[in-house]
Amino acid sequence: MLTPELSYQIMLHGFLLWTSMGFLMPIGILVIRMSYRQECRRRLKIILYIHATLQVLSLLLVTAAAIMSIRSFENYFKNNHQRIGLALYGVIWLQTGTGFLRPDRGSKGRSIWFSVHWLLGITVSLLGIINIYTGLQAYHTKTLRSTSVWNLTFTVEIAVIVFIYLLQQKWHYIMQSGVILGNEPVQPTDQETSSTYEKKELSAMPSSSEPC
Ligand code: HEM
Ligand code: HEM
Repeated sequence: MLTPELSYQIMLHGFLLWTSMGFLMPIGILVIRMSYRQECRRRLKIILYIHATLQVLSLLLVTAAAIMSIRSFENYFKNNHQRIGLALYGVIWLQTGTGFLRPDRGSKGRSIWFSVHWLLGITVSLLGIINIYTGLQAYHTKTLRSTSVWNLTFTVEIAVIVFIYLLQQKWHYIMQSGVILGNEPVQPTDQETSSTYEKKELSAMPSSSEPC
């Protein structure tokens, strides 16, 4: 039976999890990707702080939603939304933990750490997005209220985030092509891309004192 109290709890649950896993977490990922090719130490530090703050904030909101849902929902964990959701409540702590336990740039374990942190981060984020869609579906089933507007709003939001994610990968190339007017456009080869990437991953942070 859907009491007004339960209906309110479900809406709060949806709002907290959309804000955290459906917004702050993906934005935090876009932010850290701005650190690539960034040579300025100060900017790198600021970008890292923003990434960590957004992710910790997201963790706190997810945890509040978890405590709330475990207190007021049935705790049967009988469908995929509930099972994946329960797993996410735990894994997001693990992911935040790996963020704090990172080895220094240039140290031996850094690339393994990065692979784990990247893979787990992207997986958590994708499962979070899927769970928001299945959560909206569960809300519709329980309340018989239409969720078309929420589905559309979320789809537009995710489409914009994915577009920015893909653009970030090509941004340097787009900027470079614009600058080298009159010359043959320079195609970054796979080798170039990976060597720049390796430099970033494997070398210590630049100690440049250039103003930035
Ligand atoms: C990443 C986001 C989400 C996670 C991790 C999540 C997690 C969960 C979990 C673990 C439960 C089971 C709680 C229990 O029985 O103790 C649950 C139930 C529920 N969630 Fe979510 N949720 C998310 C997003 C949403 C959204 C956006 C809505 C939309 C309003 C929503 C609606 C519901 C509903 C209606 C239930 C009741 C149980 C059902 O019939 O499936 N959830 N959620
Ligand atoms: C749930 C929380 C978190 C998620 C989902 C997450 C996700 C990610 C993802 C996906 C990347 C790779 C971005 C890309 O290249 O596409 C990344 C990079 C990074 N994250 Fe997190 N992160 C989280 C928490 C944290 C925390 C708490 C810290 C630090 C205190 C942190 C530090 C970093 C650093 C330093 C990088 C860049 C690694 C490098 O390029 O060397 N992360 N994160």
